[in-house]
Amino acid sequence: MNQITIRRPDDWHVHLRDGDVLTGVTPYTARVFGRAIIMPNLVPPVTTAAMAEAYRSRIMAAVPEGSGFTPLMTCYLTDGTSPIDLADGRAAGIFTAAKLYPAGATTNSASGVTSIANIRRVLEVMERIGMPLCVHGEVTDPDIDIFDREAVFIDRILTPLLRDMPGLRVVLEHATTIQAVQFVEAAGSNVAATITPQHLHINRNAMLVGGIRPHAYCLPVAKREEHRLALRRAATGGSGKFFLGTDTAPHARHLKESGCGCAGIFNAPHALESYLTVFDEENALEHFEQFASLAGPAFYRLPVNEDSVTLERSEVVVPGEIDAHGTTIVPFHAGETMGWKILSTN
Ligand code: NCD
Ligand code: ZN
Repeated sequence: MNQITIRRPDDWHVHLRDGDVLTGVTPYTARVFGRAIIMPNLVPPVTTAAMAEAYRSRIMAAVPEGSGFTPLMTCYLTDGTSPIDLADGRAAGIFTAAKLYPAGATTNSASGVTSIANIRRVLEVMERIGMPLCVHGEVTDPDIDIFDREAVFIDRILTPLLRDMPGLRVVLEHATTIQAVQFVEAAGSNVAATITPQHLHINRNAMLVGGIRPHAYCLPVAKREEHRLALRRAATGGSGKFFLGTDTAPHARHLKESGCGCAGIFNAPHALESYLTVFDEENALEHFEQFASLAGPAFYRLPVNEDSVTLERSEVVVPGEIDAHGTTIVPFHAGETMGWKILSTN
């Protein structure tokens, strides 16, 4: 098969940032994806419906003319989130979901939730109204090894949470471990996971062998090879429980190439090609549309996109860096040759 046409995909985990970077990076996502779940970890974070509405307007101003792209907004949960503002924001069509960052887990998560007990009322309302909870699934305890933080989060936080609230609709974002795959597979249809391109392509060696490579560093950090293989089986297996969420997370080149480099990989420019390469390598092209375009809308209870994207087998070199409206960012796969390219969108 040298060409593949799928319904237009959506990206269920995107960081667009703000200001000039927002202007620079939004076109890469809007060119390919119909909708995207927009992460709220700005400075300051998007914690209210009013802030989300204002941010949505700034995003729409950065969407190129003629694009039908729709940003789906999320609420950054804090210890002080108002269940009323959240439910009203959802009813008003401003919020699609809410995002749980354990405080200190990742980039701009300092105002995140310090204990699940503090958002119990918020979660009860979300369970009642069927509002999805997007979870950054890592514990932050300093005594837990960084490579174990996702598995420990599943044991200590997610499992008891779903036992208490069996109807809560949860997306375990950017799953990186066998434990995450097994947890999601064993859970009910109210639990799903997104998987990024980088966690399908690289294991932790990519970060650490032959020199330290800051552009392969993101959170949750890439794990051992056995985990990458489990993620590839989960993504390409045709199950509706795993779907596309790039976690595209742009940071200026100098902030990653630093003595204390930021976590995040900017993969938006070739994300769909990157995923398709994995499905091709796994001989699973027949499941690509399910992962990219069908399973996400089914989980979020939204219609699938009506238009389509066609990709063809063809060599494309990914640039070594990208100028995002004045900020230099190194994209995922920089300098590599991809074997697929987007032929048309219509
Ligand atoms: C994200 C960012 O830069 O905002 N970074 C990352 O490594 N993925 C935050 C996140 O999703 O954890
Ligand atoms: Zn993210």
